Amino acid sequence: MDEINKILKITAEKLKNSYSKYSNFSVAAAILGENGKWYYGVNVENRSYGLTICAERSAAVSAVTDGVKEFKKIIVISESKELITPCGACREFLAEFCSKDSEILLGNSSEIKFRGKFLELLPMRFILDGV
Ligand code: THU
Repeated sequence: MDEINKILKITAEKLKNSYSKYSNFSVAAAILGENGKWYYGVNVENRSYGLTICAERSAAVSAVTDGVKEFKKIIVISESKELITPCGACREFLAEFCSKDSEILLGNSSEIKFRGKFLELLPMRFILDGV
């Protein structure tokens, strides 16, 4: 099994930890840091709906907490057969730690349906001090 398939399996297992009792939509994410380690996250909802944290941001915070400064690969999956893509807020949040080579992989527990460069999801993004 190649590395992506192995990580996809681990990420799929995290779906059961999604705290999504309001939307009933479980999402899990995995991020590969420049240190070679993978970090995981799930969506965490709240009765005050707007406080919800997406799976991507959960994983990002976990990676940064461990000292990661650059995301090499980001995997986002749900239980849906349809392609899900990160929300606008998450794209901006993740872009902070992505380079032009960073990859995004999207799908569900059985398949990756899209694989591409992360920054292609965020054209004309906010640039501060040339970065
Ligand atoms: N959600 C994510 O965690 N990531 C995405 O990329 C899209 C949406 C969550 C937020 C909310 O808990 C649920 O999915 C339904 O919107």
